[in-house]
Amino acid sequence: MNRRQLIKQAGFAAAAFAMSRDLFARTNSTHISAPSLHNIIYLGSNENPYGPSKSAQQAMMNALLTTNRYQWVESSKLVKAIAQKHAVTDKNVLLGAGSSELLGLTTQLASLNNNTLIAPDPTFRIWTNAVAHMGMKIKWIPLTATKDTDLAAMQAAINSDTGMIYLCNPNNPTGIPIPDQDLRDFIKAVPHHIIILMDEAYTEFEDTTSTVDMTQEFPNLVVAKTFSKIYGLAGARVGYLLGNEKIITQLGNLQPWQNAGASAVSVAAALATIQDQDFVTHCRTENAKSRGIFQKGLADLGLTHTPSVTSFAYFDTANYPGGFAETLEKNNITGVRSFEENSAWKRLSIGTAEEMEQVIRVLKAGG
Ligand SMILES: Cc1ncc(COP(=O)(O)O)c(C=O)c1O
Repeated sequence: MNRRQLIKQAGFAAAAFAMSRDLFARTNSTHISAPSLHNIIYLGSNENPYGPSKSAQQAMMNALLTTNRYQWVESSKLVKAIAQKHAVTDKNVLLGAGSSELLGLTTQLASLNNNTLIAPDPTFRIWTNAVAHMGMKIKWIPLTATKDTDLAAMQAAINSDTGMIYLCNPNNPTGIPIPDQDLRDFIKAVPHHIIILMDEAYTEFEDTTSTVDMTQEFPNLVVAKTFSKIYGLAGARVGYLLGNEKIITQLGNLQPWQNAGASAVSVAAALATIQDQDFVTHCRTENAKSRGIFQKGLADLGLTHTPSVTSFAYFDTANYPGGFAETLEKNNITGVRSFEENSAWKRLSIGTAEEMEQVIRVLKAGG
């Protein structure tokens, strides 16, 4: 199969996927199987191009030989390492097969009592798939004109029906963090029977403030984190929730088998990487460098972008002469995504410095 057929086939498969489940974006969803990626620069899912770390690779190979056994001991070690990292106790941590599982689980808990959720639009939508099936509704709150999360409007939307508020900080697809004090004031102001699900998948890329320290005082606050981004383990499927013991217990009771969703191999990889500060620092430094290359290129092309602090960029392609995504696809670069209807704003994940230099070269040549 040649490159064009490959991209096209992946595009068709993913379009059907996106339409039926609306997982990662509203439109233009393109997923390509990992082994087919050698000739293609794929920048669609905010994956970490530097992972898995050497330490994770070694740990996974060692763990392979233990997979005839259950991973109880290793999972407990991972829970302890996570608790230590965030200065909480084991009882404040819940493991899952990726944070997506846990976002869904938290939504399920909220559905037991109330039937309306509030979320910004656009944002990360994977957890919304099950919402309608549980008889719940979502009030989507548009971002402000500067593409910031509109906390005031979200607060104004709360009523007696509200069961959960989802926040993504920094937000996906904009990459913009919510100002620290505004976020803290918001958490304090939300009635305490409403669950606040704080998705912090990207905080580590630039030290965006985490609200984990508020989870003891605010038992309705649950923070979701993942090994898929800064730790470079998207395919291993490991994520976790942090919260007050009571809500973590309630959420754990909804799992068929608490803390056992991630495999022995995945748990070993996560445990190795959470202790590998050199790898994390490397990813942060390289990501910031590559994002800078891409954003400077966008500015050279006269295209506006948000001040993203993450591993993806969000930008306005309205001034690009010609088809933005088409120009890239002609050159084996795929993953441009739209999240807003009737809008020229697009998201692209940040790859390596060489990849982002190539993206800009192609855009400058092909407009
Ligand atoms: C904001 C956000 N939360 C959660 C996830 C899902 O992460 P996981 O791989 O842990 O399910 C993603 C993935 O892109 C994301 O962007």
